[in-house]
Amino acid sequence: MTAQLIDGNALARQIRADVSGRTAALKARGIQPTLAIVLVGDDPASQVYVKHKVNDSSETGLVANLERHPASLGEAELLARIHALNEDPSVHGILVQLPLPRHMDSQKVIEAISPAKDVDGFHVASAGALMVGRPGFWPCTPHGCLRMLDSIGYELRGKHAVVIGRSNIVGKPMAMMLLGRSATVSICHSATADLGAITRQADVIVAAVGKQNLLTADMVKPGAVVLDVGMNRNAEGKLCGDVDFEGVREVASWITPVPGGVGPMTRAMLLVNTLEAAERSAK
Ligand code: GUN
Repeated sequence: MTAQLIDGNALARQIRADVSGRTAALKARGIQPTLAIVLVGDDPASQVYVKHKVNDSSETGLVANLERHPASLGEAELLARIHALNEDPSVHGILVQLPLPRHMDSQKVIEAISPAKDVDGFHVASAGALMVGRPGFWPCTPHGCLRMLDSIGYELRGKHAVVIGRSNIVGKPMAMMLLGRSATVSICHSATADLGAITRQADVIVAAVGKQNLLTADMVKPGAVVLDVGMNRNAEGKLCGDVDFEGVREVASWITPVPGGVGPMTRAMLLVNTLEAAERSAK
C-alpha cells in the first residue's frame, strides 16, 4: 500500500478562504480583527516566521501590527508593553515570538498576556482550559493536526493514538485534543523504553520530536495514519520531518509530507485563533 497524502497546503488554503469571509463579515460590523506581534531581538528564524505571520494576516484581511524591540529590552519594559496591548480594545490577539532573549523568563512573559488574547494558546490558563474541556485558545500546531485528521473524515473514538514528544506546545496539548475525541492516547518521549513496541500498536501516530528519521517503516502498523510535525534540516540542508517519509509511506494509509503538511496548518490556525478572538470580543 502507498499512503495517500494529507495536503496541508490545500487544507490551509481552504481555511484561509473561510477566515477571509468571516473577517469581511466582522469588518462590515465595524470590527477590524487585529493581531499584535511582538518580536524581541534579531533571531534569524524568528524574523522569517514573523514575516510569514504578517503576510498571512494581510492576505486574509486581518491586520498584524509588528513591533520590533532590541534584544537589550528589559523584561519589565516588555511586560509593560504587553499590559498596554491587553488594555487596547483594538487589539484582539497578542503573540510574543519565541525564543526570547536569555535574560527574560518566557513563561512569565506569556503569562502576562490576557488569556482572552492568547492566540498562541501558550498561557497556563489556555492549557488548563484545554485540559478540562472549557473554551479557550488551542495551540496552533496540534490544532492543525486535528483539523488534518478531520479533513480525511477520521473517526478517533476508540482508536489508539500515539504522540511522540511531550512539549507544552505540541505533544501535551495534542494528547489532550486526541483524548477529547475519545481516542486511547499514549505519550512517548526520550525516556520511553521501546518506542517501536508502542508505535506498532498505534492507529494514529503524531511525531513531534525534532529528530530526522525517528519513525521508520518497521515501527508503523500497516494502515496507520502518520502526522509529521518535525522541521529538521538534513545533511543537504533540505527541510525534512521526523518520519522516514519514503519508507513509512509504503506502510501507512495516510501521511503528511514535510514541507507542505503540518507547517502551513500551524500558520492557518493562528489566523483562525485571531479571528475567533475578534469574534468573541464582538459578542
Ligand atoms: N517560535 C516558533 N514557533 C512559535 C510559535 O508558534 N509561536 C511563538 N510565539 N513563537 C514561536
